[in-house]
Amino acid sequence: MLRVLVCVSGGGTNLQAIIDAEKAGELGDAKIVRVISNNPNAFALERARNAGIEGVCVSPKTFENREDFHKALLKAINEATPDLIVLAGFLVVVPEEVIKAYRNRIINIHPSLIPSFCGTGYYGLKVHEAALARGVKVSGATVHFVDEGTDTGPIILQKAVEVKEGDTPKELQQRIMEEAEWVIMPRAIRLIAEGKVPLGEGEKA
Ligand code: GAR
Repeated sequence: MLRVLVCVSGGGTNLQAIIDAEKAGELGDAKIVRVISNNPNAFALERARNAGIEGVCVSPKTFENREDFHKALLKAINEATPDLIVLAGFLVVVPEEVIKAYRNRIINIHPSLIPSFCGTGYYGLKVHEAALARGVKVSGATVHFVDEGTDTGPIILQKAVEVKEGDTPKELQQRIMEEAEWVIMPRAIRLIAEGKVPLGEGEKA
């Protein structure tokens, strides 16, 4: 079994797509064992609860400093003994100690075709605002491994989505979620579960 930990911050529609894929038997032997949110009010936590998955909140606001938050996050991750960490709309910069311990075992979904509209400051709706401002005719989503940079790790899957005349950022976001994100994230997890995309070993502390 591939033990999957999902990190979220908000609505959790990508989490829902993964839950639904698991229920439909489309994730191979991958199983979501825990959901971690940095935001206590994330609807994603309710989605986890509804699916009978343990949901844990590790909020930076409840710690005196960033270092203590990072330690608590690593602890909450380690407790679940995951084989794979999935960032599904997790809007926290992943601490270096987590990246080291789980090198090439962390994947992220980004709502554009990397290397366009990615990096620091490009998240959520801002990505789609930038794509529309530039006037691209095609955008999409990318699943990639997470390294120390922002959206710089090796690409696993991408899917292109048409930008339509008169699209608002919200309309483009919704189309990219439906046509790309909710498709390629479960697909990437399945490929990993089937051993078609090899994971790294992580570095011992
Ligand atoms: C998704 O569109 C995801 O690609 C994006 O946040 C949204 C989360 O939605 N992630 C980033 O922008 C990361 N840089 P969700 O909570 O409904 O899955």
